[in-house]
Amino acid sequence: MDWTPVLARRMGRMKASEIRELLKLLDQPDILSFAGGIPDPTLFPKAEFAEAMAEAMSGPGAGQALQYSVSEGYGPLRQWLSRHMGTLGVPCAAENIVITSGSQQALDYLGKLFITPGDTALVGWPTYLGALGAFNACEPRYARLDPWGNADAATLQAEAEAAGGRVKMAYVSPDFANPTGETLDAAGRMRLLDMAESLGIAVIEDGAYQALRYDGAQVPPMLATDVARCGGIDAARVIYCGSFSKTLAPGLRVGWVCAAKPVIERLVLLKQAADLHSPTLNQIAVDHVARRLFDAHVAGLRTVYGARRDRMLVALAREMPDGVTWTKPEGGMFVWLNLPDGVDAAALLAESLKSERVAFVPGSAFFADGSGRNTLRLSFSCATEAQIDEGMARLARLLRGA
Ligand SMILES: Cc1ncc(COP(=O)(O)O)c(C=O)c1O
Repeated sequence: MDWTPVLARRMGRMKASEIRELLKLLDQPDILSFAGGIPDPTLFPKAEFAEAMAEAMSGPGAGQALQYSVSEGYGPLRQWLSRHMGTLGVPCAAENIVITSGSQQALDYLGKLFITPGDTALVGWPTYLGALGAFNACEPRYARLDPWGNADAATLQAEAEAAGGRVKMAYVSPDFANPTGETLDAAGRMRLLDMAESLGIAVIEDGAYQALRYDGAQVPPMLATDVARCGGIDAARVIYCGSFSKTLAPGLRVGWVCAAKPVIERLVLLKQAADLHSPTLNQIAVDHVARRLFDAHVAGLRTVYGARRDRMLVALAREMPDGVTWTKPEGGMFVWLNLPDGVDAAALLAESLKSERVAFVPGSAFFADGSGRNTLRLSFSCATEAQIDEGMARLARLLRGA
């Protein structure tokens, strides 16, 4: 069968990148990998989930736990999340929450909600690879989002119209972004909100790492600032995507969107069409565990990941040759390196697989236009302090030879 003639046009935008192919080779045991951006499985609250699952499956509630349920999500969890969003400065009701299968599903739905092929999405340069993957299915045009350097709204809109659509949304991960680890300060968030208001567009705020702050003062979510400015969540243009993946466990696939009711109602329609609802048992278990230990558990994660972040920054300062610079993240899981001009991080990774056996993600994967070839992403979330020391020494050796 020749599949090409029958594939939808959108599949043209959904190709496995060269880099993903390279990353498949990283599972070998002698490779020191800083490539994956995943939480450390030794830190999952396993006993608490075992207890929560056992409780959900015993007694009269077991039938409900295995039954179909509503697309909006498990009521008690939506209640808990509306209070959680309240603690972040976002007064809202359970009706402002929809549960999704991870925040990745929210990104998929939001692409479908806003993008007609040819419309423009404003994204960071670089930005989260998975957001580009989710939006690509809707065939957007991308333009660079830079709160400090963007052209005025009229120019952005004129360029989008010349390209056959209009600017529909801005996507931003303001806390400890994947891939750079950087945080957008309060003034930057305000500028971005002003720009979105002038353009009349939605802002998708990705809060995947929001809870993992290791130092510095918390900056309120953009949704909190928006709600304070516009008088209430149902008038807000910011759509907040949250996730339990980095705080409790990613395998359960439980995330949420907090937004104005007109947005939530439409996301519920998309969810009905896509998968009816997220797994009932997983939502019940997450509700159970979050109520009992969310804050205490996250405090423990901050201590462990914060120490790994510190170790990586110290090792980079000790080992890296001149001409290499890197970010100093206040939270999250990533450090972003800028290499001297002309060094190609993808070629460096291929070389590393042969010689130093240290792995990272070449940065160009995170740029909508494939630029940024002299950048790379390191994750410190799963490495021991000894592995970080050894890994940074190997990476520095590799770079000195580049
Ligand atoms: C910035 C960002 N957003 C969203 C996600 C998706 O996470 P999940 O679907 O597990 O909530 C990730 C995962 O790595 C991420 O880094």
